[in-house]
Amino acid sequence: MASQLTKKTACVIGGTGFVASLLVKLLLEKGYAVNTTVRDPGNQKKVAHLIALQNLGDLNIFGADLTDEESFNAPIAGCELVFHVATPVNFASEDPENDMIKPAIQGVHNVLKACSKAKTVKRVILTSSAAALSINKLNGTGLIMDEKNWTDVEFLTSEKPPTWGYPASKTLAEKAAWKFAEENNIDLITVIPSLMTGPSLTLDIPSSVHLSMSLITGAKPARSLESKICVILFVFFYLFKLTDNWPFYGFFNKLQGMNS
Ligand SMILES: NC(=O)c1ccc[n+]([C@@H]2O[C@H](COP(=O)([O-])OP(=O)(O)OC[C@H]3O[C@@H](n4cnc5c(N)ncnc54)[C@H](OP(=O)(O)O)[C@@H]3O)[C@@H](O)[C@H]2O)c1
Repeated sequence: MASQLTKKTACVIGGTGFVASLLVKLLLEKGYAVNTTVRDPGNQKKVAHLIALQNLGDLNIFGADLTDEESFNAPIAGCELVFHVATPVNFASEDPENDMIKPAIQGVHNVLKACSKAKTVKRVILTSSAAALSINKLNGTGLIMDEKNWTDVEFLTSEKPPTWGYPASKTLAEKAAWKFAEENNIDLITVIPSLMTGPSLTLDIPSSVHLSMSLITGAKPARSLESKICVILFVFFYLFKLTDNWPFYGFFNKLQGMNS
């Protein structure tokens, strides 16, 4: 483990989440000091896995809400890396505008403002989603999506297909992040996962793990057949240990380079 003098500090926004908690663990194992934010540090069920991770290294838990601008100043102060992983996920919402879209955009602004203020942050990594680029009216096979593609938010807000609020929130939040980063000279990377599954540190079953398990349990998933196909592919790649080529794992591997 790196000595206290050379330790770099990373901040992970949303440590109660499925991906964020695994990221906290990985960063600690790589010798980083970690600040993580949770909405309610007093909620034992939600923070139990983080308290257990404090045995691995220097992990501080802060209270912060995406809608509260000032709450990110303390956890981000002094950090070199900031991973903005938190996002409101509520597929059953009857008010996606207020439950997901507004807080996701507000969260991006509040986190990035705190990064600007800190003056120590060298890079911000935002977890976006395939949902931010792949949903549109195009038909057919062989479609190739890259950095130029965005989900069609006008289509989502006018036609309101099931669970439309989540892709709308991810698209608008990522766009807001790029705009703010460009205007404020922030080094930003966005990560575009499709569906992530696997063992979780959290006590509650994460929604994406629940969805992937629905292939086995038969529980009615909140998302589409296309997502099921992604899960089948993921499980296939996972079983045959081909995951190194997946963007999500590549992103973790790149952390290795950040140590030097
Ligand atoms: N899992 C996937 O398959 C997948 C696929 C593509 C992209 N992504 C993206 O990857 C990221 C992590 O996904 P995940 O599955 O790990 O999500 P998750 O387990 O549902 O975690 C979401 C996190 O966001 C926090 N959060 C929600 N609203 C908040 C608010 N107002 N203020 C502060 N924190 C708030 C939650 O805190 P509470 O615990 O307090 O609710 C939780 O820690 C997300 O950005 C997601 O969009 C995930």
